[in-house]
Amino acid sequence: KQGGSDAAKRAAGESAAEAVEDGMVVGLGTGSTAAHAIRAIGRAVDAGLDVVGVPTSFQSRELARDCGIPLADLDDASVDLAIDGADEVAGGDLVKGGGAAHAREKVVDASADRFIVVADPTKEADVLAHPVPVEVLPMARSTVAEAVEALDGDPDLRRAARKDGPVVTDNGNLVLDCDFGAIEDPAALAGRLSETPGVVAHGLFVGLADEVHVGTDDGVSVRDL
Ligand code: A5P
Repeated sequence: KQGGSDAAKRAAGESAAEAVEDGMVVGLGTGSTAAHAIRAIGRAVDAGLDVVGVPTSFQSRELARDCGIPLADLDDASVDLAIDGADEVAGGDLVKGGGAAHAREKVVDASADRFIVVADPTKEADVLAHPVPVEVLPMARSTVAEAVEALDGDPDLRRAARKDGPVVTDNGNLVLDCDFGAIEDPAALAGRLSETPGVVAHGLFVGLADEVHVGTDDGVSVRDL
């Protein structure tokens, strides 16, 4: 679900960036929608805002650095506010990991006092049904795939667009995109995936987000989750 317009993504990202206040430590999400928030925060830093960013990926670190946002890691800072995108939003739950960044995103987003999701209307659903990205240790690829099949999921090794071979995450691991169809009980599935040996992180974010800002071409709707 990458179908939203850039204007909608921008509206969401800029709306969430307005929640950033002087002195905050801000978790910087990954993806095209979160990138708009990072750029907006960068402009505010240019104008004198004093914040520190904690990036969730190589991509968000690079963009934040280009935007002049001072950076820290979780050893040095605790996150007041995280702003991050999603591949699908249903109720208070998310599927993330379309950019294979969900392991670090989950650490940063879950640690934040407040987590704002930025999305466009194409991401909204009544029930989560997007394939769940599962980051796995490379040596556990087959055993995790078998465990996913035992949960009635269909695992598919993510392959790179511009390389002959798999996507390798920022953490040196592989990603299985696991299609479970409609996920009626995300918490139960999240628990089963988390307890599978070799799973580093899965893309189900259950009850972690506090708010969603959905951008459209005409404005933004803000909803508590
Ligand atoms: C990165 O791994 C993902 O979790 C992204 O946050 C998600 O894919 C949203 O990306 P877009 O904003 O580009 O749709």
